[in-house]
Amino acid sequence: MYIVQIASECAPVIKAGGLGDVVYGLSRELEIRGHGVEIILPKYDCMRYDHIWGLHDAYRDLMVPWFDGAIRCNVECGWVHGRLCFFIEPLSDDNFFNRGCYYGCLDDHLRFAFFSKAALEFLLVTNKRPDVIHCHDWQTGLLPVMLFEIYKYHGMANQRVSYTIHNFKHQGVAGANVLWATGLNNEPYYFTEDRLMDNKHSTAINFMKGGIVYSNFVNTVSPHHAWEARFTEVGCGLGKTLYDHQHKFGGVLNGIDYEVWNPVVDRYIPYHYSSDDLKSKTLNKKALRERLWLKDCDKPIICYIGRLDDQKGVHLVHHAIYYALDKKAQFVLLGAATEPGINSWFSHEKDHLDSNPDCHIELGFNEELSHLIYAGAEMIVVPSNYEPCGLTQMIGLKYGTVPIVRGVGGLVNTVFDWDYEQNKPQEERNGFVFYQTDNVAIESAIDRAIDLWYKSPKLFRQLMIQGMEYDYSWNHPGAQYVGIYDHIRHK
Ligand code: ADP
Ligand code: GLC
Repeated sequence: MYIVQIASECAPVIKAGGLGDVVYGLSRELEIRGHGVEIILPKYDCMRYDHIWGLHDAYRDLMVPWFDGAIRCNVECGWVHGRLCFFIEPLSDDNFFNRGCYYGCLDDHLRFAFFSKAALEFLLVTNKRPDVIHCHDWQTGLLPVMLFEIYKYHGMANQRVSYTIHNFKHQGVAGANVLWATGLNNEPYYFTEDRLMDNKHSTAINFMKGGIVYSNFVNTVSPHHAWEARFTEVGCGLGKTLYDHQHKFGGVLNGIDYEVWNPVVDRYIPYHYSSDDLKSKTLNKKALRERLWLKDCDKPIICYIGRLDDQKGVHLVHHAIYYALDKKAQFVLLGAATEPGINSWFSHEKDHLDSNPDCHIELGFNEELSHLIYAGAEMIVVPSNYEPCGLTQMIGLKYGTVPIVRGVGGLVNTVFDWDYEQNKPQEERNGFVFYQTDNVAIESAIDRAIDLWYKSPKLFRQLMIQGMEYDYSWNHPGAQYVGIYDHIRHK
């Protein structure tokens, strides 16, 4: 099959979180399975150009209709660690993607509506006719709407769309002017409850709802979250729409790219190791301590790696730091805050804990350091309020870094409690799970983990090994996506 992925991120060239990992990892897996894959991305000024090989013009002067006129674009292409990527660059004075950031601009809805429109125009004029277009998150929600309402009549009637929702919190709720911008001119037709009208604000349209209504198949990134999204508040108002379209909705658990995230081959860590040889993990722990100026002592290291955002349970992350220090553990945090309030809160904590030899807080995004932390720490906390899938617990497992997670979303599908999991025998359990959002809940899970580390090192080691032996590669989800593509292609 010929598949085109259209997304706002692809690791490592553009990565704000797990979406980037997924777009890259899934594309690689599909190629391994013999499919042709191309990836279309915005050309941001701040992306990591050092990860692109052979960047050159693929198409010049692409005229993308926009409001009453058109915006001229160049499309460049290059290889990102073996994947063929096309980068769309608008040439207008106010270039949508020359903003020094990926997201967070006031006109994000216009930026990504334009990106979706430009991606379709590019496919149209270059005569690329993929069997399946795979769109991701709200940024590309309008793409299937435009495909089936406009481009279908211009020679793109055979293309099918698979749409993956990674996060329901961001849906692309916008004013109707976006419809005019993109050529979806018949406003009353689109502004209905069964099409694009936002379920909460009857004066706004919702990109993600468009993606759900128009795509041939829709999924979120774990089976448990697919249930939560329909039946609990984590669907953020889209539960009803998903319910109405549940004949074409499901959950596919993400995979991890074990070429990138694997202590046997990881190019960012000083000592490679596997489950047969955990001694080298200890050497990475030492290297991590040296790098972060932590005291060398007989204590476990607990870490947190992730966005500092309400979704991630920042209050519990904060509590975990002090609780772990109190319980004779060291703590390392690597996180970038999305809101100024959370940023100043954690900056303050960083200053406060700066002289503590058992703690390091690193604010910002640092891919290379994240690898060393996964390799050097022994436990990772993931106390999310909600978590569609979550990659950090799966990466932690591969590195023998035992996850301590809240039982929500994809965390339920991937982490099985060492003491209490009912559905797995002892030899298949791989972490610690708590459920409530209060401090006591995370404290008791951290206590159980630290106790096992101090009092039963052999059992703790066994727990690490059991986690490392889980297969959360792209192999299984890759096969599931191919099944979905095949299904929609033959409908
Ligand atoms: P989300 O997509 O919600 O942010 P995931 O757990 O799915 O969460 O994926 C997060 C990805 O981003 C992982 O690869 C993780 O290692 C990485 N990551 C998150 N924060 C940072 C950071 N501050 N520095 C480096 N990598 C980070
Ligand atoms: C989102 C979710 C996260 C998921 C990631 C990749 O950002 O928050 O749970 O793992 O996308 O699908």
